[in-house]
Amino acid sequence: MGSVNEYMGRSITIVSGKGGVGKTTLAANLGIALAQRGVSVCLVDADIAMANLSLMLGMQSSPITLHDVLLGEAGVQDALYDGPAGLKLIPSGLSLENYRRVDADRLATVIKAVQHKFDFIILDGPAGIEKSVLASIAATEECLLVATPDSPSIADVLKTKIVAQRLGSKPVGIVLNMVHFEKGEISKDEVSRMLELPVYGTIPYDDEMRHSFLKDRAVPLMLRNPQAKSSVEIQRLAARLAGLPVQVSEKKSSGFLAGIMGFFSRLFSGGKKASEKGMEEVHL
Ligand SMILES: Nc1ncnc2c1ncn2[C@@H]1O[C@H](COP(=O)(O)OP(=O)(O)OP(=O)(O)O)[C@@H](O)[C@H]1O
Ligand SMILES: [Mg+2]
Repeated sequence: MGSVNEYMGRSITIVSGKGGVGKTTLAANLGIALAQRGVSVCLVDADIAMANLSLMLGMQSSPITLHDVLLGEAGVQDALYDGPAGLKLIPSGLSLENYRRVDADRLATVIKAVQHKFDFIILDGPAGIEKSVLASIAATEECLLVATPDSPSIADVLKTKIVAQRLGSKPVGIVLNMVHFEKGEISKDEVSRMLELPVYGTIPYDDEMRHSFLKDRAVPLMLRNPQAKSSVEIQRLAARLAGLPVQVSEKKSSGFLAGIMGFFSRLFSGGKKASEKGMEEVHL
C-alpha cells in the first residue's frame, strides 16, 4: 500500500492508566479507520499479559507472536499478519508461561526495527503503570491518552501523562470514550484544561460498539457499521491524528426522504453528487 504523506514512521502507544476504558477497542477501530484512508498502519498488541487485540480484530490464529519476538525466538517479520482493511497486526501471545519469561524492555528495539515501514505503528498498551506499561510507552515517540469522563479515570490518565513525559514519549492528545453527554460528566473543556492537552476525540457510549465484541460477533464496528455514531467519531479522530481532511461515513437516508434530499443536493451542487463513495467531507 502506498504511503499517503510525510508522517512516515509515527509510533504511538494508546494508554489510559485506568483499565477498561476502551483502549483496545479504540486501537482496533482507529487502525481500520486510518487504513481505510490509505494510511499504512501496523497495530501491535503491547498488552503482553492480557492480549485482546487479535480477538477484537477477529484474528485468533497466530502461530508466531510478539512473545516469541521478545524472547528472541523469532524475527519481527515473522510476527506480522494481514488484518482488515489492509492493516498489519503484531499479535501478543496468550501463554502466561511465556509472558513471565519475556523481557518487555526489548519492545523499543522491536518497534524501531519495523516502524519505518509504516505511516503509523500503533501500540495497544496495558492498563496500570507496571513494567510492561512503561515499556510500551517508552517504545514509542508519542502516546494517545484514553479516559472516560469521570474523576478516577482522569486522575489516572494524568499520572500516565506525567510518566509518559518522563519517559520521553510525547502525549499528543486525549480521547474521551464512552461519553453519555450527561450532567455530572467532566466536560471536554475541563479535561483539556486539567491535562493541558487537546481533546482529540469524544467517542459516545454506543451499545453497538459494546455488542460488536460479544460472542460469535467479533467484527470491529468500523467494518460492521461505519455509520454507527462511535465509528463516525473514530473516523474524525483518525483524520485529526493523521492531519487529513475529515471524511465520515454518511448515514444513508431511505425512501421518499432520500429522494427529496438527493434532488436538492444535486440542485445546489450543479448536478454533481454532494458526496462520493458514501463519504461526507468536512474540514475541521
Ligand atoms: N464507545 C464505547 N461504547 C460502549 N462500549 C464501549 C465503547 N468503547 C469500548 N467499549 C466496551 O468497553 C469494554 C472495555 O473495552 P476495552 O477492552 O477496549 O478496554 P481496555 O481499556 O482495552 O481494557 P483493558 O484496560 O482491560 O485493556 C468492552 O466491552 C468494549 O466493547
Ligand atoms: Mg485492552
